[in-house]
Amino acid sequence: MKTMIIGTGSYAPDRVVTNEDLAGIVETSDEWISTRTGIRERRISLGQGTTAMAAEAARRAMEDAGVGPEEIDLIVVGTATADHCFPSAACEVQGILGADRAVGYDISAACSGFIFALNTADSFIRSGVYRTGLVIGADNLSKLVDWSDRSTCVLFGDGAGAVVVRGCEEQETGSGVIRTEIGSDGRKASVLTCRSRTMGNFLTGTKPEIGYISMEGQEVFKFAVKKVPECIEQLLSNTGTKMEEIKYLVLHQANFRICESIARRLKVSMDKIPMNIECYGNTSGATIPVLLDELNRDGRLSSGDKVILAGFGAGLTWGASLIQWQ
Ligand code: COA
Repeated sequence: MKTMIIGTGSYAPDRVVTNEDLAGIVETSDEWISTRTGIRERRISLGQGTTAMAAEAARRAMEDAGVGPEEIDLIVVGTATADHCFPSAACEVQGILGADRAVGYDISAACSGFIFALNTADSFIRSGVYRTGLVIGADNLSKLVDWSDRSTCVLFGDGAGAVVVRGCEEQETGSGVIRTEIGSDGRKASVLTCRSRTMGNFLTGTKPEIGYISMEGQEVFKFAVKKVPECIEQLLSNTGTKMEEIKYLVLHQANFRICESIARRLKVSMDKIPMNIECYGNTSGATIPVLLDELNRDGRLSSGDKVILAGFGAGLTWGASLIQWQ
């Protein structure tokens, strides 16, 4: 059994926040942000949560695939920002879509969440446990950002992307998810964190605390430009694939310069690396499926194209998936 991606969808809130808008609240400038990151604007939710964004992206992916809610067996959401500690975003999405036969749960791998979620769905489908799944990457990081911290608040945005995956007999097609590599390094956990919000505890005398995103930017940069190329090379080697066969590297949209460094290390031209960071910023688990949806909808993907999706993020986590477009 092979896992095919049979539909894509994405959603971003309407409200655009430009670099100039941010220069009005912290000491920064369009020039600083755009030259160091490639970001010009991002979408910020005005109260719409991760579940609502995820459900809309999923609805669009199901429409693209021509799949109804009764056909969905599995919903996996890669997110670090579920609206509630419980229930999961996936269960809420299930309820909104009316996918009554499905089972849903979230996966926590921050910006690598979509790749981890895709790997989970692919494993179930390959082994014949489920046939049709929704894999969603959705995040609402604006609620975790300290809007007075210029070193982080300029980087992130809100959004969601989704794919519908379906199991097909191997002989029916050469297309689908070929292989995924994922990894994590907990020794480096402290370089990118967001503490849980706590209410305090009367026994220990601890006070309520609010957690914000905290990051050692240069450490994250160094990690990404080393680990992502290594992971992609491992994926190519494990599948006997040459880089020349790859049409696009769909990379996590965290920073234009990170993508350029990855391209240099892999000796590929930026033509192979589509970007949309200028419009959305870093939407965490959503960046990869949102970009994949754009490529799909504007006709940049043709049958037989080989594409690598690759992400990295807090954990630290990373992952890459080789797919052949149907
Ligand atoms: N506007 C203006 N100045 C800013 C600023 C902002 N938004 N943010 C930081 N600065 C300042 C710093 O205070 C520092 O000033 P100083 O030299 O007077 O101390 C200076 O700019 C350089 O800061 P530094 O952190 O060294 O910048 P950098 O070149 O490393 O760029 C990042 C910062 C965040 C853009 C970069 O490190 C990065 O992209 N890292 C990866 C982050 C990431 O992708 N995280 C998500 C991973 S999923």
